[in-house]
Amino acid sequence: MGKLENKVAVVVGGARGIGLATARLMVSEGARVIVADILEPEQDVGELFHALDASDVDSVDQFARAVLGEYGRIDVLYNNLGIHYSAQIPESDPDEFDRVMRVNVKSHYLAARAFLPAMITQKSGSIVFMSSHGGIAGRPSDPIYNASKHAVTGLMRSIAVAYAHLGIRCNAVAPGAIDTPMLRAALPDRQNVDDVMGALTANIPLARIAQPEEVASVVVFLASEEASYVTGHVIPVDGGRMAGVMPGNRYRTDHLN
Ligand SMILES: NC(=O)c1ccc[n+]([C@@H]2O[C@H](COP(=O)([O-])OP(=O)(O)OC[C@H]3O[C@@H](n4cnc5c(N)ncnc54)[C@H](O)[C@@H]3O)[C@@H](O)[C@H]2O)c1
Repeated sequence: MGKLENKVAVVVGGARGIGLATARLMVSEGARVIVADILEPEQDVGELFHALDASDVDSVDQFARAVLGEYGRIDVLYNNLGIHYSAQIPESDPDEFDRVMRVNVKSHYLAARAFLPAMITQKSGSIVFMSSHGGIAGRPSDPIYNASKHAVTGLMRSIAVAYAHLGIRCNAVAPGAIDTPMLRAALPDRQNVDDVMGALTANIPLARIAQPEEVASVVVFLASEEASYVTGHVIPVDGGRMAGVMPGNRYRTDHLN
């Protein structure tokens, strides 16, 4: 029996990358998966695909009505979508600030707003939000993205404490470097991908970049009954990056031998 047998699970931002890997794993764990995204999915996954801009209130409300009309319930809401933006504050564009906050934060609020009433009626449900390593610590390279991912954790914790007494859990994952189209598009020097990936790896105690499936398995854990006593937490999936304060390669002691 799968970890999500017969659960109705919505994945917002499931067309590619971490969202697609999670939707696929949810299907293999027995869930009835509904994917929503602004892009067409890279592969067919789940029972239903809904094209939408998850930062638009009417589209999200319509999507929730369609899901609840078809399935009559929602057990898992996974808000995965997000966009990256690298710019120092003096050079940044205020319109981009609004766009990042709308896509990364407002989308999570809108989906929670649309699906929570059904979870409250059911007195059950698990919500998983997408934060980032950049939602736990400050970073010089992408302060606006970073702020949006901190906001996601605040929203997550507030939902967790507000609805725990009704059997509704809410958590977030905070990935480090995961090999997806977003990561590759954000690399500063795309001509020398191997060099840049090598420099990124030097910051990670596990000394490698992760695959999307390694985030998916943590999301499925949080969504499932295996995490029945876990709510209000941000779970790093970062190869140990947040466990210490030095670059990952400084912890290695093989150079002492
Ligand atoms: N890749 C990493 O290293 C990494 C690290 C930390 C956090 N994250 C976060 O993980 C999430 C997934 O990232 P990814 O690397 O798989 O990125 P990705 O760009 O490959 O996937 C993001 C998905 O969100 C969808 N999306 C974007 N805007 C949307 C909108 N307005 N409405 C509906 N769907 C929309 C995209 O179409 C895409 O399918 C993001 O929130 C990202 O910030 C990624």
